[in-house]
Amino acid sequence: MLNFGIIGAGAIARVHIEALVSLYPLCKVSAVCDNLEGKAKTLIDEFSLDAKAFTSFDEMLDSEHLDCVCICLPPVLHCDCACKALDHKIHVIVEKPMALSVELCDRMIESAKKNNCRLAVICQNRFKTAHMRLKRIVESGALGKIYQATVNSLWYRGENYYDLWWRGTWDVEGGGCLLSHGVHHLDLLLWILGKPKSLTANICNLAHNNSQCEDLVTAILHYEVNLMVSLLNHGEEQEIVLQTKKAKLAIPFALACNKAMENGFPEDNPDTYKEILSLYESLPECKEEGHKAQLLHFINAVEGREELITDGFAGRDVIELIMAIYKSGVLHKEVFLPLDANDDFYKFESRVKIMPHFHEKTHSVKYFKTSKITLGRDVGK
Ligand SMILES: NC(=O)c1ccc[n+]([C@@H]2O[C@H](COP(=O)([O-])OP(=O)(O)OC[C@H]3O[C@@H](n4cnc5c(N)ncnc54)[C@H](O)[C@@H]3O)[C@@H](O)[C@H]2O)c1
Repeated sequence: MLNFGIIGAGAIARVHIEALVSLYPLCKVSAVCDNLEGKAKTLIDEFSLDAKAFTSFDEMLDSEHLDCVCICLPPVLHCDCACKALDHKIHVIVEKPMALSVELCDRMIESAKKNNCRLAVICQNRFKTAHMRLKRIVESGALGKIYQATVNSLWYRGENYYDLWWRGTWDVEGGGCLLSHGVHHLDLLLWILGKPKSLTANICNLAHNNSQCEDLVTAILHYEVNLMVSLLNHGEEQEIVLQTKKAKLAIPFALACNKAMENGFPEDNPDTYKEILSLYESLPECKEEGHKAQLLHFINAVEGREELITDGFAGRDVIELIMAIYKSGVLHKEVFLPLDANDDFYKFESRVKIMPHFHEKTHSVKYFKTSKITLGRDVGK
């Protein structure tokens, strides 16, 4: 049985704890840490955990015998905490976004390698039947050439979302909707289609006055992907739509197949429709989904039963793509991947100096009274 520590006892920590509790006896939550007095204890009591509460991460690492930690902290703390845990020979699973620069991601990957430990980054949407099937169908070649994709990472967050002290800041959250929300769909995109060669992007803030960062991003990634990430969307329609030689295939699931009539205009192609639908439906379903499935995969990887598919390199690729989108949005020019180690957008300090402040943050709260959060509407349906 693996002993887990949780660092950061806020909203997402609940999701981790609930998943780990349901995975008993493969694992057990032995320690919870939050620097705000009482928060760790509250979670321990809420889940009736046989665990110790800490206000200092260092103390937790020194005094508990932990096999793994879940890092559920504000993003600026991800890299340092991960490296500290790895230096204690503890395996790490860190919430998204992995870190606030490619340089910091590289530091984490290096630390995991040096200590011979597993490093995983949360990307719970990979662990959903619909996305697994989409990836498998693309890999099978059954759709023919992929021409174009549309990715809508559309969310609704009220202005007061940014009242939480660490959100809406370039130096603590590290970004706005692109880094904190778009990260989910960009991870899926990279996983399914691989890396684009270059991109052009626009970033702006239309409606969140207590945030320095963007709340709307539009981009074209070359391979031909139209990307929109937004926090302004009533209904939160989130989708990945692939247009290919043989069909349109989208998640949430939608399939359309046309063929050309003698004059070039479209008519339905029921044979191809049936062929792709039956292939889609024949692909395996995930037994578990989301955080629970990813934590189970992580445990299996730590115990040598599975190859980790959500490692530091995967987390790093998403951060590199996000930093390239910021670069294009700020400099108003086409940006090519990969980002060079001398690039201002490769490093945290140099990028933070360059990013425009759409607004200044004027007020903040230490935490919200409500712990309930939502993790997207139709992601992976
Ligand atoms: N995967 C997802 O769908 C998803 C959803 C929400 C949040 N997240 C990510 O999870 C992370 C945390 O987000 P959240 O919404 O839970 O935030 P939160 O503010 O609710 O929780 C963070 C906790 O960390 C604690 N903390 C801050 N500094 C600390 C320190 N130095 N030592 C110990 N504890 C400290 C805070 O007191 C707080 O309780 C972020 O990276 C966020 O992007 C992921």
